[in-house]
Amino acid sequence: MKDETLCLHAGYAPEDGGPGVMPIVQSTTYRFKSTEHIGDLFNLPNEYMYSRFANPTVDAVEKKIAEFEGGVGAMCTTSGQAASLLSVLNLCSAGDSFISTSTIYGGTVNLFAVTLKRFGIECIFVDPEASEEELQAAVKPNTRLVFGETLANPALTVLDIEKFASFAHKNDIPLIIDNTFATPYLCKPIEHGADIVVHSTSKYMDGHALQIGGVIVDGGKFDWTNGKFPEFTEPDESYHGIVYSETFGNMAYIIKARMQLMRDIGAYPAAHSAFLLNLGLETLPIRMDRYCSNAIKVAEYFKKSDKIDKVTYPGLPDDPYHELAKKYLPKGTSGVIAIHIKGGKAAAVKFMDGLKLASKEVHVADIRTCVLHPATATHRQLTDEQLIACGIDPGLIRFSVGLENVEDIIEDIEQAFKNM
Ligand SMILES: Cc1ncc(COP(=O)(O)O)c(C=O)c1O
Repeated sequence: MKDETLCLHAGYAPEDGGPGVMPIVQSTTYRFKSTEHIGDLFNLPNEYMYSRFANPTVDAVEKKIAEFEGGVGAMCTTSGQAASLLSVLNLCSAGDSFISTSTIYGGTVNLFAVTLKRFGIECIFVDPEASEEELQAAVKPNTRLVFGETLANPALTVLDIEKFASFAHKNDIPLIIDNTFATPYLCKPIEHGADIVVHSTSKYMDGHALQIGGVIVDGGKFDWTNGKFPEFTEPDESYHGIVYSETFGNMAYIIKARMQLMRDIGAYPAAHSAFLLNLGLETLPIRMDRYCSNAIKVAEYFKKSDKIDKVTYPGLPDDPYHELAKKYLPKGTSGVIAIHIKGGKAAAVKFMDGLKLASKEVHVADIRTCVLHPATATHRQLTDEQLIACGIDPGLIRFSVGLENVEDIIEDIEQAFKNM
C-alpha cells in the first residue's frame, strides 16, 4: 500500500455498521469476564487491561505508525522526550553508556547529557562526520546503543543512516533514529538499517499544533539474543519469569518497553490525543509534499537576499548535505530552513519581531509558518561549545515554512527585511 492510502486506511478497520472514523475509547478501564481472566492478564497482559499502558484508540494509531515506518510494532508516549527517554531506558541501566551524534535536538542533548547522567547512564557524543576509527574509539564494553537524528533540529544536517547502522551492528548494538523532521513519508530509517525509530509526534505527524506526543517504533530485525542483552534472554521476575526474546520473538523490544517501562511510568497518551494524532496522520503525506515545495521556494528566496549570510536547507543543490538528502530524503527535506542573518543576534531579533504572518513560537514543523531563535530559546541551556557541536550560531533563525500560499510567506519576509 502506498503511503497516502496507508495513512487513511491502516490501523483501524471499521466493521459493517461500525463508525467510519476511528472511535475514541476514552476509558481508563476495561471489563473482563472473570476473576481468573484478570489474573491471567497479570501474567501476560495481551489485552487492553488498563489505560496507563494500552488503549484501543491509541493501539490503532500505533499500528498505523508501525506500518508506515515499516516496523513490527509501536508504542505511543505522551511526548517526544518521553519516546527518546524510554527508547534508551529499555536498553540502558545505571552503569551503562551509549553513543549519540552531537547534531540532535537540544532538549534531547540535555536529557542525554544532564538528566540521564544523574541516573548513572553516560552518553558519549560523536560528530556525525566522524570516521570509522573515531566512532570506534567511543565504544566501551558497556555501550548499549547508538542514537542519531535523520534531519537534525535545527542544524538540518542529514545523517548517513547506513554508516551509523553498520557501525552499530559491527558492535552488536542497535541504532535508534529520531525521525521527527523527516517523518516516515520522507524517510524510512528502518529500510536503511535502523533498528528503532522514535518521533516527536507533536511536529509534522500531528501537524496542527494540537497535542504533545511521541512514539517508539520497533523495526523487529535486531537480534537481542546475541549475548549482549541479557534483559531479553533472562527471565523477568516482575512478570513471573517471562523471557522476552522467547515469548515475543521479533517484537521483544517494543513489548518489553510497554510491559516494563510504560507499566511503571505511565507516560501514555489519552485516547482523545491519539484520535487527534490520527487526524494529522491521515493527511501527512499530502502536507509533507506541500511543506517541501513551499520550503524550497522560500529557501531559494533567502538564498538570493543580501540580508542573509547563509541558508541551510539540504534541498538546495549547494547545501553540504544535498547528496545525503538525495539518498535519504528523495521526496524533499521538510519545511524547516535555518537562516543566518547578517548582523548576528540583534539583526535576528529585529527580523523576527518584524514578521507579521509567521508567528514567533516555541514550536516547529507546524501547519502555519513559525520562527524561533534557538540560541535564546530551545537551546539556551547549552554551552557555547555544545551550541557549536549542534551546528547553531547566535544569528541562526529556524524558519518553519507552513502550508500557506508561498507568495504570502515570501511577502511577509520581504516586508520584515524592509523594516530592519
Ligand atoms: C527532533 C526532535 N525530537 C524530539 C523532540 C521532543 O519532542 P516533544 O516536544 O514532543 O517532547 C523535539 C521537539 O522539538 C524534536 O524536534
